[in-house]
Amino acid sequence: MKHLLKLADLTREEILSILNLADQLKYERKHGIPQEYLKGKKLGMIFQKASTRTRVSFEVGMYELGGYALFLSNRDLQIGRGEPVEDTARVLSRYLDGIMIRTFEQKEVEDLAKYGSIPIINGLTDYCHPCQVLADLMTIREKKGNFKGLKLCFIGDGNNMANSLMVGAVRTGMQFAIACPKGYEPDAALTAWAKENGSVTVTDDVFVAARDADVVYTDVWASMGQEEEKAKREKAFAGYQVNAALMEVAQKDAMVLHCLPAHRGEEITADVFEAHADEIFEEAENRLHAQKAVLCKLMK
Ligand code: CP
Ligand code: NVA
Repeated sequence: MKHLLKLADLTREEILSILNLADQLKYERKHGIPQEYLKGKKLGMIFQKASTRTRVSFEVGMYELGGYALFLSNRDLQIGRGEPVEDTARVLSRYLDGIMIRTFEQKEVEDLAKYGSIPIINGLTDYCHPCQVLADLMTIREKKGNFKGLKLCFIGDGNNMANSLMVGAVRTGMQFAIACPKGYEPDAALTAWAKENGSVTVTDDVFVAARDADVVYTDVWASMGQEEEKAKREKAFAGYQVNAALMEVAQKDAMVLHCLPAHRGEEITADVFEAHADEIFEEAENRLHAQKAVLCKLMK
């Protein structure tokens, strides 16, 4: 594994190996065991979109591993003024040991990897969010023991989260069902691949998707970059909500996960969110452990 550009690039074994290392790193941190596996290494973090979890967990993660992280916002980098990504990649490769990038187009991440000579980590694009799903898988396995026989459902937009969760489910052998309004399905090519390689249902009926689900997942109706579609999306997604009535059809011990930030009263009700807050914030914590595992795999 040279980069983490999208989850589909990883084999099942590579994913499980990251999760195992993440569990180990979580244990070590809890018990105060030193973790300077990346002593002196430098990670650049390019952000073309806002972030709370990704930014803080990568920065703290590098610090805990004995390395250093540089926050590079598009307001400050020449990339924000149009310097080509091919040039940025070749320059930064001479200073740094790895780059994490959050941006719009998946192609920009792929181009960084193509033109640079250091590991590139996708910290979210419009297409996918692999770091988040590694943390999600870690959280599911912690709570459920393993992935065998589990059903993961996603309620809402067929966005970056839906795309990556679909891949994560296929790779770990979970059933995947998504309920989304017509016109908001996950990526068509990826869905075709997922249907060939796993058990995948795409429906516009939230109850069909959530029935007997072991994990109920949702995300915002309008993602970063879609702010001007907010009103249109509020209409389209009315009813695509994780609420008490929906949880009735899921398994009794179903987990609820959310990548955050959450919009209470839109994709999830406040009562369901609070009832599952322990799981959701454990999931947020696991971003740190899962990403430290990725950093070790790529940069050690
Ligand atoms: N879930 C997630 O990636 O959060 P941030 O946007 O805060 O990084
Ligand atoms: N789908 C959301 C995920 C945020 C972590 C977005 O792209 O804004």
